[in-house]
Amino acid sequence: MNTDRYLAHSSEVRLFERAFHQHLPVMLTGPTGCGKTRFVEHMGRALGREVVTISCHDDLTSSDLVGRFMVTGGDVIWTDGPLTRAVKTGAICYLDEVVEARHDSLAILHSLTDHRRTLYLDRADETVLAPADFMLVCSYNPAYRSSLKELKPSFRQRFVTLGMDYLPPDREAEVITAESGVEVATAHRLVGCATTIRQADQAFHFEPPSTRVLVAAARLVAAGVDELEAAQVCILAPLSSDGAIHDGLREIAAAHLSPTATHIQSTN
Ligand SMILES: Nc1ncnc2c1ncn2[C@@H]1O[C@H](COP(=O)(O)OP(=O)(O)O)[C@@H](O)[C@H]1O
Ligand SMILES: [Mg+2]
Repeated sequence: MNTDRYLAHSSEVRLFERAFHQHLPVMLTGPTGCGKTRFVEHMGRALGREVVTISCHDDLTSSDLVGRFMVTGGDVIWTDGPLTRAVKTGAICYLDEVVEARHDSLAILHSLTDHRRTLYLDRADETVLAPADFMLVCSYNPAYRSSLKELKPSFRQRFVTLGMDYLPPDREAEVITAESGVEVATAHRLVGCATTIRQADQAFHFEPPSTRVLVAAARLVAAGVDELEAAQVCILAPLSSDGAIHDGLREIAAAHLSPTATHIQSTN
């Protein structure tokens, strides 16, 4: 299994590279588990930059990002937060699910995302000018709607936005094969099952099954679990706890992952 591998969607690698060299921050949008994190890690390796990942949540304060004074052995000393460390070392700072963070915590990013490329550490009375190698990358899932959580348009307009989605079926099956070791035919059946559920998604109103869950199902199949059972625990069960919906999903899975095919697969 090669967990370093990234299969490009379209022109995102080239665009990310150009943005990096032009010192422009990037926003990745797309559904959960479509490859955003994998892409940033890949770009970190391609550009020779460390990736500092910060998972955003609604308790995240600007001090969690930039740092704070801490008492150590009777002394009060300033300790850089992950954002400050990333700026100082010229890393790629990746704010995952940035929409989860409160707007006031994100205000600290403004001066880093425009021509100033500067972090103002008011409390430490320090101004940090970002080196050329520093890059800010954020991600969020616009389809996951909650009226309370939306990024401000003014914030969104500070970024070059690369819209990501699930790979086309053949490419997604390639990823699943590479990530799990299952046969291509199994990967195609799992993708077929997910594609049908994704198309029905508007009616169901749930987060559609991601490439991540398909990889997980494929790994169970590679470990000897039936396709349908693997799909049940990795793809269907996490989607919905509603019995009627679940029955519908199970029918879709059964139509794609036929027991005969599973049998041939597992006895090979
Ligand atoms: N383009 C891709 N190339 C390689 N692996 C991928 C790709 N897209 C998704 N994956 C697989 O799906 C998993 C989830 O992707 P991830 O980057 O964590 O999603 P996200 O950050 O968008 O939620 C990865 O661990 C990898 O196995
Ligand atoms: Mg991620």
